[in-house]
Amino acid sequence: MDGLGELRGKYLAAVAGAADEAALEEVRLAALGKKGEIALKMRELGGMTPEERQVAGPRLNGLRDEVEGALKARKAALADAALDERLKAEWLDVTLPGRRRGQGTVHPVSQVTEEVTAIFADMGFAVAEGPQIESDWYNFDALNIPPEHPARQEHDTFFMARAPGDDRPPHVLRTHTSPVQIRAMAAQGAPIRVIAPGRVYRMDMDQTHTPMFHQVEGLAIDRDISMAQLKWVLEEFCRAYFEVTQVELRFRASHFPFTEPSAEVDIRCSWEGGQLKIGEGASWLEILGSGMVHPKVLSAAGVDPTEWQGFAFGMGIDRIAMLKYGIPDLRAFFESDLRWLRHYGFAALDMPTVSGGLSR
Ligand code: DAH
Repeated sequence: MDGLGELRGKYLAAVAGAADEAALEEVRLAALGKKGEIALKMRELGGMTPEERQVAGPRLNGLRDEVEGALKARKAALADAALDERLKAEWLDVTLPGRRRGQGTVHPVSQVTEEVTAIFADMGFAVAEGPQIESDWYNFDALNIPPEHPARQEHDTFFMARAPGDDRPPHVLRTHTSPVQIRAMAAQGAPIRVIAPGRVYRMDMDQTHTPMFHQVEGLAIDRDISMAQLKWVLEEFCRAYFEVTQVELRFRASHFPFTEPSAEVDIRCSWEGGQLKIGEGASWLEILGSGMVHPKVLSAAGVDPTEWQGFAFGMGIDRIAMLKYGIPDLRAFFESDLRWLRHYGFAALDMPTVSGGLSR
């Protein structure tokens, strides 16, 4: 049988030159596959005389074994090389110093929301929620603010767009948390005691106003709730929140469509050397709006005003956060500046509780 020396040279060279496993497999098929050159040669053995076969057989077997051996060796070498490559790429210097994990902080708004919630929970108030995109009925009408009422304009409302041709009144971004009063009473009826913290929106922007800010609404309805309980609850809240033993509140007659009578509440304070002190001094600081819930508001929420009455209040969370923690500019609250967040943020594991301390 001729040409075996040539075949040997050809395939051993091809095996040695195969750059990866796929190329190596092609060489194997070309030599030893069903239609491979060496395999075809082996088939020729059948047509030989026994004498010819005795010579050609061992030579062919030897060639096949040699090529198979070379393929196997090359395959192992390629695998070794691939592993070396991987080890080199994934090499890890365990002597390098570890990288410091970033430590997030709790935003002052979240912290104060937790503090307020803890204080009111202690007085038996549950937390209620409502949507930030609100119908004008919940945001205005149900709260005794009819379409022609000037308060509708004063709220600098953001209106949601409607599809062209759809002339139902547009939804609004809620301008206050007061609509949650309606939703909570409609869902739960009376008696009820809830607070509703959350985001609200108005078109306004300066050092003390941002287009999105936070309020907390309070609502207590029962058969005999009066302004006296409102005053006690708010005093109790201020003592706990500002972490002082003495507070003095001043109720100033005011007007809100959803309460009658209505009062704005100021807290006694001093500003010595730019430092705010709560509970002493000759200054007054306005902190919230409040009043006795208007009978029309109770009716709108399905609560009978001849049977039930109570108080409501609304307070700016960002504002009381600025006061307590001495933060001068409201706009910085929502700029996500990491330096600001590290400075004014709170440790993530310090959950405020009334018994364990709010801010310490
Ligand atoms: N909703 C009012 C506002 O955003 C605040 C307010 C005042 C809420 C009096 C009340 C209230 O519940 O009784 O300005």
